[in-house]
Amino acid sequence: MTGPFRAIGAYTVLALCVGCASDSGDTMSSGRILVAHRGASAYAPEHTRAAYELAIEQGADYIEPDLQITSDGVLIALHDLSLERTTNVAEVFPDRFREEVIRGTMLVRRWYASEFTLAEIKQLDAGSWFDPRFAGERVPTFAEVIEIARGRAGIFPETKAPEVYGDQGFDMERLVQAELQRHGLDVPGGVPGTPVLLQSFSAESLRIMRQDLGIDLPSTFLMGTDTDERVWFTPEGFERIKEFATGIGPSKNVLVAFPDAVAKAHAAGLTVIPYTFGGGDADSFPTFQEEMWHFLYTFGADGLFTNNPDLFPRDES
Ligand code: G3P
Ligand code: CA
Repeated sequence: MTGPFRAIGAYTVLALCVGCASDSGDTMSSGRILVAHRGASAYAPEHTRAAYELAIEQGADYIEPDLQITSDGVLIALHDLSLERTTNVAEVFPDRFREEVIRGTMLVRRWYASEFTLAEIKQLDAGSWFDPRFAGERVPTFAEVIEIARGRAGIFPETKAPEVYGDQGFDMERLVQAELQRHGLDVPGGVPGTPVLLQSFSAESLRIMRQDLGIDLPSTFLMGTDTDERVWFTPEGFERIKEFATGIGPSKNVLVAFPDAVAKAHAAGLTVIPYTFGGGDADSFPTFQEEMWHFLYTFGADGLFTNNPDLFPRDES
């Protein structure tokens, strides 16, 4: 595996700065956490049983379901608010779309998950869009994802757009809590072999789960969309994060822009699990594996989200 200074481009700077970060203040476990992003989503359709099973086979410590809500109030594993990118909803329910204008001029059709019952969503093929060999894969419920992981891997559920669902009368955080409770997973160590980490881009969602609902599970504050890291990556910012989360999940770009963030977060007692590696391009690195290696062992991150669990570098050698 590559050494810290073999990285090229923008990340070379990181190598120089962040090596020092992992030497100081790293009170975390030396083992790194492999989070299978939407399952092994480089090789199988995201958020399907096939993707999660493959991720576990490939050694994932955690599988990652993004959560959306059906019209009858069931949590499902789905990244987008709508179904058309990853299912054949447009064929099965051709008239059930909403038309929207995006980017000022482009007319698009959206089939929102929250306008379909679970029974309707279960009719959809969630695999063929990726490859015909996955025809017949279904959109799993959160409960089904939990059962796939039970005793075999951790789960790292993300509350997606909780405020959108709140406006529709759903309480995503309570639904998550209820599902975790039903499966004995609402407390640390509830199910041996299946640790639970919560995550959200919404600080408020994490705050609700921790403070209002009293869910005593570790959680990760995702950063890199509309967060202002200049505010969060200050001593005061980290102290604020600790009120509702136990770690941060920055995008790769955030860590490039703030190369001392790992050291600072560790010094504040927060874990750092960046996203997302593999599946697209490896940015300035020759391979996905070298990019992951760099963030884990030069940068000192505690783990990472990857679409390619099989390429996760387990150790520094
Ligand atoms: O949850 C970490 C990462 O998955 C965030 O990005 O858009 O893939 O959910 P997204
Ligand atoms: Ca996610």
